Amino acid sequence: MKVRVLGSCAGGGLPQWNCGGDNSVRARRGDPDVPARTQPGLAVSADGVRWSILNASPDLRGQLAAFPALHPKPGTRDVPLDTVAVTSAELDHVLGLLVLREALSFRIVSTHWVREAMLDHNAAWHLLQPIWSSVPLDAPVALDRDGRLEARFFPVAPKVPTYLREVAKPHAETTTGLRITELASGARIAFVPGLKTLDSATAAELAAADVRFVDGTFFSADELRKVVPGAPDATAMGHAPIAGTDGTLAALAGLPGRTWYVHMNCTNPVLDAASPERARVRRAGVEIADDGLEIEL
Ligand code: MLT
Ligand code: MN
Repeated sequence: MKVRVLGSCAGGGLPQWNCGGDNSVRARRGDPDVPARTQPGLAVSADGVRWSILNASPDLRGQLAAFPALHPKPGTRDVPLDTVAVTSAELDHVLGLLVLREALSFRIVSTHWVREAMLDHNAAWHLLQPIWSSVPLDAPVALDRDGRLEARFFPVAPKVPTYLREVAKPHAETTTGLRITELASGARIAFVPGLKTLDSATAAELAAADVRFVDGTFFSADELRKVVPGAPDATAMGHAPIAGTDGTLAALAGLPGRTWYVHMNCTNPVLDAASPERARVRRAGVEIADDGLEIEL
């Protein structure tokens, strides 16, 4: 199985347009330790020919332009994209679906809750209805047309996206992770870009994967308050911090295989390659995903 990180940052990317925090300032200046990053998503493939996408950020147009494997065959409109799987209705995970609206030549899959949340509340999204199917939690669904990659959505602690709070109630299907298995080899990845609390079932999913991509939004619980006075703690915003007693790093340290943080917020000090926080994550055996990272397993 091949994996490409299309975008490694959280919604807003780096630099974030309205942020004057250190990382955004340095990224704007072109500081090599703080490279610019796009908003979150992965691409996966069994053979390097047919691809599926996990979460569609508003940066998807540029991410596809930068990735020749997903370009159309010259002289045609054939793009080797089979499925876009979305783990939640967060805008940074779904806005890219409308970026793809020129052709409905692929399929969208999510849980029923996510599909209904998106399609029920905004007329523009109705155009995606014919290609959007829902699957129950933990049920297998083929990602690629050849059936070589199997996806399963597993539940994580639910967080209703802010813009849906008035109209939708939290449900087991609200926020999910994805387990992707290559059937021929058994190779398995886990993708959990939004993780409010690391419960034992989610920890078991992460431990059972060969490679995992995990929510690394905030390094510390109060990080956002440094640039946004009065901002809530990380967990209240739906993201367990990396550090601290309830942090994810302690649970991820020492897991077999490889672990990458994704969905880093522009305020996260790990985005500075020379920071002590980055060094601490690396000492625990965890890596920070970069845009364009490609791995094979
Ligand atoms: C999140 O990851 O919590 C959301 O993307 C934040 C938001 O855009 O409301
Ligand atoms: Mn997000």
